[in-house]
Amino acid sequence: MISCAATSHSKPEIIVPARHEAPRHPPATVQRLLRPRSYKAVSQNSPGSAMLRAVSSASLLLIATSIAAHAGGDPVQGKHVFNRCMACHEAATDRDKVGPHLKGVVGRTAGTAESFLGHYSEAMKSAGAAGLVWDEANLTEYLKAPKLKVPGNKMAFGGLTNDDDIANVIAYLKADPKP
Ligand code: HEC
Repeated sequence: MISCAATSHSKPEIIVPARHEAPRHPPATVQRLLRPRSYKAVSQNSPGSAMLRAVSSASLLLIATSIAAHAGGDPVQGKHVFNRCMACHEAATDRDKVGPHLKGVVGRTAGTAESFLGHYSEAMKSAGAAGLVWDEANLTEYLKAPKLKVPGNKMAFGGLTNDDDIANVIAYLKADPKP
């Protein structure tokens, strides 16, 4: 296992995230490599190069592995992240605010909190009717880009950009926080 993951920009294809010894927050260089933006920059600069295509797939693999590696987020850190949701959501009780309560949301079908049924957007209710369940993967996508995951939904929140924040806040919601 190569643990000094991203010490070199010139050889990103050998980077293997060290899932056992890795620090919770990977070094900034790794985070830069993991961002889709840098993946785009690479492929745009040299569209035809097989070598760079290989690097690109390696980056995709890294992104996938990184999400998997973070699947078990930290609920304690997630509680802090949830401060950014609290203006609109309650997770420790079933009280609705501007948004539906998120108590027990992990595993819940989208748009089905009983007490909020009269307030959901049609978009959110249809997404649920079409089978969208808030498991970890779907929550990850939604919290990253709410408007992309459920187009037309009315959550006025741009999304979380940091993968750790997302994994941690999901872990917090999953832990069924008490008041
Ligand atoms: C500005 C208010 C606001 C903020 C901030 C906000 N949300 Fe929301 N959220 C909403 C509203 C309103 C909805 C309902 C959307 C709809 O019906 O289209 C919603 C819906 C959701 C849903 C779907 C719930 C369901 O029952 O289907 C989840 C999950 C969610 N928000 C999580 C979060 C998390 C986690 C955060 C913080 C990282 C957050 N939201 C921040 C307003 C907000």
